[in-house]
Amino acid sequence: MLYDNHGRQLRYLRLAVTDRCNLRCFYCMPEEGLNFSSRSQILSYEEMTRLVTILADLGISKVRITGGEPFVRKDIVPFMDQLTQINGIEAVSITTNGTDLVRHLPALKQMGIKSVNLSLDCLDKERFHKITRRDEFEEVMTSYHALIESGIDTKINAVVMEEHNLEDILLMCALTQNDPVSVRFIEEMPFNGGSKGYVPIKWNMTRILEHIQEAYPNLVKLDDGVSSTSMNYQIPGAKGSIGIIPAYTRTICRSCDRIRLTPKGDLKTCLYQGEGFSFRDFMRDGATDEDIKNQFIKLFNNRAKDGFEAEAKAQKSGSLQSMATIGG
Ligand code: GTP
Ligand code: 5AD
Ligand code: SF4
Repeated sequence: MLYDNHGRQLRYLRLAVTDRCNLRCFYCMPEEGLNFSSRSQILSYEEMTRLVTILADLGISKVRITGGEPFVRKDIVPFMDQLTQINGIEAVSITTNGTDLVRHLPALKQMGIKSVNLSLDCLDKERFHKITRRDEFEEVMTSYHALIESGIDTKINAVVMEEHNLEDILLMCALTQNDPVSVRFIEEMPFNGGSKGYVPIKWNMTRILEHIQEAYPNLVKLDDGVSSTSMNYQIPGAKGSIGIIPAYTRTICRSCDRIRLTPKGDLKTCLYQGEGFSFRDFMRDGATDEDIKNQFIKLFNNRAKDGFEAEAKAQKSGSLQSMATIGG
């Protein structure tokens, strides 16, 4: 089993399969995009399968595929199917922008994918365009409805941004009344690839919650799973639930069970960490499975206690990094 130096067991791998994306959300990357990695710079499917197999042996049971946008990478669906067959991997899920999801849904269902997280920050076409700099609102809404129809456990991720989508907070809460969806509001983090500066957020978890409670004074607190990223609530009688993710105020670190591998194969023991260790180079230089296993153990033996400590140690200022190169 893999434990860190603060006694936390690692169980959940966030595997970023590409830094490319077909949207340009301004809180994630600049309008002209990033200096995207070439094919040889990112991990191959064989390399990722090898790492996941070793991690499964170390007790990791959940894998979330992230990006960039995972579905822009060729053959991602058969790769996910392969992951579901690794001994010890109990759940494979994916976080997607939903622009190209519908055609993959039958295959995802068939291979037993139980949950999909959909990044959607607003419920209005024009606001969508302002945030994502692309016109794909209808495609994403079609994916949303298809997901709900499919019976796959669906979460919406909405980054809260003062000048862009405050009016969507209550509109999205209302969605939970009739749809079995978990709508989660996320504090904006400083990882926008230099798309803009970063002003520390005013809409933190407390403010978001107060705003929702003003409209729904009877909001009920739900139990959060042990390592849940969100604090969860429900409008009485609603089919779905509401969550808030303190991604910036970082009150969730004490139970953090997450490992991150970036598209280039760098290991991050925390989202706020600077440079990570390159498992790509390590593997390409001939590391054995035993070497790899020992390296995971060694790195987690020197893990920052929380996102503040990790950030303080990072060289580069946060906003120069992009969520697409970290993997979210
Ligand atoms: P579930 O597996 O469904 O609980 O999803 P998740 O919240 O782990 O993953 P998702 O990809 O949907 O991420 C939602 C938001 O939470 C994104 O903005 C992530 O960057 C953020 N997030 C996920 N894990 C962490 C974490 O360990 N720390 C911080 N600060 N934010 C995180
Ligand atoms: N702050 C908070 N969340 C972000 N995401 C992308 N960039 C940021 C940011 N700067 C979210 C996306 C996606 C998830 C993986 O991370 O909306 O749902
Ligand atoms: Fe884990 Fe770092 Fe996120 Fe805290 S900020 S929950 S330690 S990844």
